[in-house]
Amino acid sequence: METTENSFPIPDEYFAEKEIMQTNDGSKTLYLPKLKEQYHSRFGAIVESEHIYIRHGLLDRNLPEVSVFEVGFGTGLNTMLSYLAARKNGLKIRYSSVELYPLTASEYALLNHIALLESSEQVALQDILQSPWNEEIMIRPCFSLLKIQCDLLTYEPETRYDVVYFDAFAPSIQPALWSDLVFRKIFAAMNEGGILSTYSSNTKVQRSLREAGFHINKLAGPPGKREILQAIK
Ligand SMILES: C[S@@+](CC[C@H](N)C(=O)[O-])C[C@H]1O[C@@H](n2cnc3c(N)ncnc32)[C@H](O)[C@@H]1O
Repeated sequence: METTENSFPIPDEYFAEKEIMQTNDGSKTLYLPKLKEQYHSRFGAIVESEHIYIRHGLLDRNLPEVSVFEVGFGTGLNTMLSYLAARKNGLKIRYSSVELYPLTASEYALLNHIALLESSEQVALQDILQSPWNEEIMIRPCFSLLKIQCDLLTYEPETRYDVVYFDAFAPSIQPALWSDLVFRKIFAAMNEGGILSTYSSNTKVQRSLREAGFHINKLAGPPGKREILQAIK
């Protein structure tokens, strides 16, 4: 299928068919054959998430108590890595994540993220994946989680965020999610000094982020990606 801006909106069933994909760091991810798009980089799902969202989002913001908003809960990998970073660095995180197409338990079971992460934290990581939708849950004292099943386009933030992980599918596939309107809404919901990190360094995305009011830092990307964006409020 042609994944141009003219192809939007995409029928829901295009998000339903998934295949498992091995990535270069040994971690698996999911691939959507109808859209030719995957949930993480084929060069390494864990390495990519650690670099873009944990290092250049959460840890660069450097706050002991931090409110995180994620676009696209997906496989839960960014969320699990954030919990582990909270444990390792003595942080307290209030984490919210929106997701329009939650994975099923059998789809989570195809992945190997938990097996590759801290063995002493496997129960907490399972709790993250199994926690109910639309209810704020204290996963552990350092980490509360609100997974919201909704469309980012109609979502109205109810709190203020210090860090945003903007991890939607590519702008060529879902351009409406990368629009001026969405970035303005997110900017308004962020605290001063807040960081939005994303894997896309697309020039239109940069322009929309600047128009929303962000200052842009272009940073070196993880393997397979020359540049990523860190947008500062
Ligand atoms: C690149 S994946 C996210 C990967 C995820 N952060 C992880 O760690 O596995 C993009 C996610 O955005 C979700 N999504 C697609 N359209 C959406 C929408 N309109 N609102 C909210 N989420 C959406 C997809 O279902 C998918 O899970």
